[in-house]
Amino acid sequence: MAWSLSVRTASPDATREVAARLAGVARRGDVIVLQGDLGAGKTTFAQGFARGLGVAGPVTSPTFTLVRQYPCALGQLVHVDVYRLDHLAEVADLGLGDLVEDGVVLVEWGDVARRALGTVTFTVAISRTHGGASARTCEPGARDDDRVLTVRADDETRRAEVAAALASSTTGAA
Ligand SMILES: Nc1ncnc2c1ncn2[C@@H]1O[C@H](COP(=O)(O)OP(=O)(O)OP(=O)(O)O)[C@@H](O)[C@H]1O
Ligand SMILES: [Mg+2]
Repeated sequence: MAWSLSVRTASPDATREVAARLAGVARRGDVIVLQGDLGAGKTTFAQGFARGLGVAGPVTSPTFTLVRQYPCALGQLVHVDVYRLDHLAEVADLGLGDLVEDGVVLVEWGDVARRALGTVTFTVAISRTHGGASARTCEPGARDDDRVLTVRADDETRRAEVAAALASSTTGAA
C-alpha cells in the first residue's frame, strides 16, 4: 500500500486550502486522481488546486465537457471528469498522456480510469463523515460539511513533500 495521510476539513474553503497546499508541490507531468462519491468535493478540491497554481478565474465542473484546460504556473492545468465515460477506451481517447507533458492533470472519478491514465502521482480520496449512503463513518457530532481527505503518494518519492505541505492540517499519517 502506498503511503498516505488524512486531513479533515469542515468547509468547502478548508478543502480548497488543502488543495492549494498540495498544488504547491505539484510538478509538470503530475497526474492526480480524485476519488469520492457524487458531491463529495472533487470539483471543490480542483478549484483550490487551480488557485494554488495561479489560475485566474472560475474553475467549474467539466462533467459535460469532459476536459477543461487552464493556463497556470506549470503550463496547463488539465481538469478532467470521466464520470460520463462508459469505457476505458474513451478515456484513452482523451489523450491525457500527451496533455500531461504540458502541465498537470487532475482527474475526477479517476479511480475507475486508472488503467487508462498511466502513472499516477497522487490520489486524493474525499469522503463524508456524516450523512448520505456513502458516509464511511457516522461519528457523533459530525457535521454535514465535514470531509476527510486522504492524500496518497502513489509516487512514494514525493511523500516527504506532501507531508511537509500538509503538515499543519493533518489528522495523522496512515
Ligand atoms: N468540507 C467540504 N469540502 C468540500 N465540499 C464541501 C465541504 N462541505 C460542503 N461541501 C459542499 O459539497 C459540495 C461538493 O460538490 P463538488 O461539486 O465539489 O463535488 P464533486 O465530488 O465534484 O461532485 P461530482 O461527483 O458531481 O463531480 C459543494 O456544494 C460544496 O460546497
Ligand atoms: Mg465534480
